[in-house]
Amino acid sequence: LPEAKDVARSRLDLLEHWLNDLRGVGLEQLPTPALLIDHDAMIRNIAKLAGYASSQDVRLRAHAKTHKSVDIARIQMNYGACGICCQKVSEAEAMVEGGIKDILVSNQVVGEAKIRRLAELARRARIIVCVDDGDNVDRLSRAATVAGSTIECLVEIDVGSARCGVTPGEQALRLAAHVAERTGLVFAGIQAYHGAAQHVRLHADRKERIEEACALAAGTVLLLRKSGLSCGIVGGAGTGTFQFEAASGVFNELQCGSYVFMDADYQKVLGENGEGIGDFENSLFVVTEIMSKVRSGNAVCDAGVKAHSIDSGVPRVHGRADLTVTRCSDEHAVIVDPHDTLVPGEKLLLVPGHCDPTCNLYDNYIVMRAGKVSDIWPVSARGLLM
Ligand SMILES: Cc1ncc(COP(=O)(O)O)c(C=O)c1O
Repeated sequence: LPEAKDVARSRLDLLEHWLNDLRGVGLEQLPTPALLIDHDAMIRNIAKLAGYASSQDVRLRAHAKTHKSVDIARIQMNYGACGICCQKVSEAEAMVEGGIKDILVSNQVVGEAKIRRLAELARRARIIVCVDDGDNVDRLSRAATVAGSTIECLVEIDVGSARCGVTPGEQALRLAAHVAERTGLVFAGIQAYHGAAQHVRLHADRKERIEEACALAAGTVLLLRKSGLSCGIVGGAGTGTFQFEAASGVFNELQCGSYVFMDADYQKVLGENGEGIGDFENSLFVVTEIMSKVRSGNAVCDAGVKAHSIDSGVPRVHGRADLTVTRCSDEHAVIVDPHDTLVPGEKLLLVPGHCDPTCNLYDNYIVMRAGKVSDIWPVSARGLLM
């Protein structure tokens, strides 16, 4: 299998070549469709959440599943993140290769090859992983023992999403005790992430769900403590709910990911007074070109579903309230243009409906500062096996 470092090397050679052509170029000269970052807006988002976490006395372990970028992870660390979350072993490998040394794989890792690679990675960095199964714990223990490494484990509890995770309370205690008895493993705490609450539109509804999650997490932490198992990490939260977990007094690590870019769907999630959550800005765009303007009332651009993910809805046209994307096919999107303003060749910026799977469609980010290309960053952890 290709090693993350070889993939990174070959991509960097290519990027250097492209950067020579594109550095200093403005929006009008960009190839389309392409994935673009507004660097300064992204930095403001990163600084905002970092500042908020420190004001609430909780750690931020930013989720790299959103961007899969070593460059962005490094910036998040420079702004005070205690570490990075990844969702896959290959993402964690790419991050370690890029110099990130404290990683939570916020997921269950099963399968012999993945477990072996995780155990080997733990020789080079602090590696934490979620568990919800005793047999999986035994396999992790054996692999860490063979690799001569230590893997830290968070017992994941299900706080309402009905996805992964054991039942809070006694079941979590049994699994935590099982971890603590195994060689090569350390019991590090719990993960209580409520994915299903993140995109709930109304503030009061999200608050209610996270209050329930906090009660379940608090009860489990107490039970563990009574049995002599202390939770160094009580982790969870995403962009939609982090303010509730941060204020709970139970959670000490936030795992937000999308805040770095914000997408069109997250902008429909409302704060207490109907404002956007967290005051984050759009910093990720797909640059597209109008390729056809034949019919009155609409136009067609070159960014279809191969250029952005529509699982959470169609993209929004940035800065153009008069335009609406209505449907997308592979390489086309139809834009309603009621006043017939668009002309072929015109460039537009689309705010993707869902940022994570959109980034996963590209090999590179074109980074813009003050309207000009300043850099090209690889989507470092994209396209790797495992
Ligand atoms: C376990 C876990 N933690 C954190 C996040 C980050 O959530 P968000 O991108 O909504 O901030 C996710 C996203 O899916 C997740 O699965």
